[in-house]
Amino acid sequence: MAGKYDLTGMKIPNHVAVIMDGNGRWAKKRMLPRNMGHRAGAKAVENIIEEAHDIGIKYLTVYAFSTENWNRPEQEVSALMKLLRNYLEDCIKNANKNNIRVRVIGERSRLDNDIIDRINELEEASKNNDGINFTIALNYGSRDEIVRAIRKISKDCEDGKINSKDITEETVSSYLDTSDLPDPDLMIRTSGEERLSNYLLWQLAYTEFYFTDVLWPDFDREELEKAVIKFNERDRRFGKVSE
Ligand code: FPP
Repeated sequence: MAGKYDLTGMKIPNHVAVIMDGNGRWAKKRMLPRNMGHRAGAKAVENIIEEAHDIGIKYLTVYAFSTENWNRPEQEVSALMKLLRNYLEDCIKNANKNNIRVRVIGERSRLDNDIIDRINELEEASKNNDGINFTIALNYGSRDEIVRAIRKISKDCEDGKINSKDITEETVSSYLDTSDLPDPDLMIRTSGEERLSNYLLWQLAYTEFYFTDVLWPDFDREELEKAVIKFNERDRRFGKVSE
C-alpha cells in the first residue's frame, strides 16, 4: 500500500478518469488468451480504487465497456460481460465494507436484465457511502450520452419545463450521465494510445491528459503516483493568459 514517491504538499486531483487500455497486449505478451488480460485488468481496477482512495483522490471513473466494444468478437464480449457481472456481484459485498460509492454511467437498456438489476442494487446499496466515488462507464459512448441528453432537453422544451433560451452549459452538464460528478482534473490512458475514444468528451474540456506506455494490468500505485506528479508539474491555466 505504501507508495514509492512522496506526494506530501502536492495537489491531488479531485477526479481522475481512466481509459484502461492494453489488457489484450498484456495477455499476448504472456501467451495467454485475451480474456486473461481482462481478468488481470479487473484485478488492477480493484487495487487502484484502494490506492486512489489512499492517495486522497475523491472520484475515480473507469471506461469498462464502450458502445464500440460490442463490435469485438462475440466470445470476447460475453467474457467481458461475465467479468463485469462477477465484478458487480463482488462489488455489492465490498462497497459498503470499503465505504465506496459506486455509480454506473452509459446506456443501460442494451445490457442484460440481471446486469441492470445488479447495477441498480449496487447504486442503491452504496448511495450513502462517503469514501471514494467510483464510477464505471458501461456501454458508454460520449456521443451517445450527448445525443441522449439532447433528446431529454428537447422533450423538456416541448413539455414547457425549460425554455430553449435558458439553456446554458450548466443545463447541458445536468442532463449528462455524469450530472452529479465534478469534471475530471486528470485523464489517464494506458498502453501508449493517445486518443479519447469517445470518452467523456464534454467533461474533459479542461482536463490534463496523461498517457503512459504501461499496460493496464500493470498499472499500480507507483504508476498512479507518477501521473499525480506529472499533473503537479503542469501549469493549469484554464485558458487564461499566464501572468
Ligand atoms: C482495453 O484493453 C480494455 C477493455 C476494452 C476493457 C476494460 C475492462 C476491464 C479492465 C475489466 C473489467 C472492468 C471492471 C470495472 C471490473 P484491450 O482489450 O483493448 O487491449 P489491447 O488494446 O491490448 O488489445
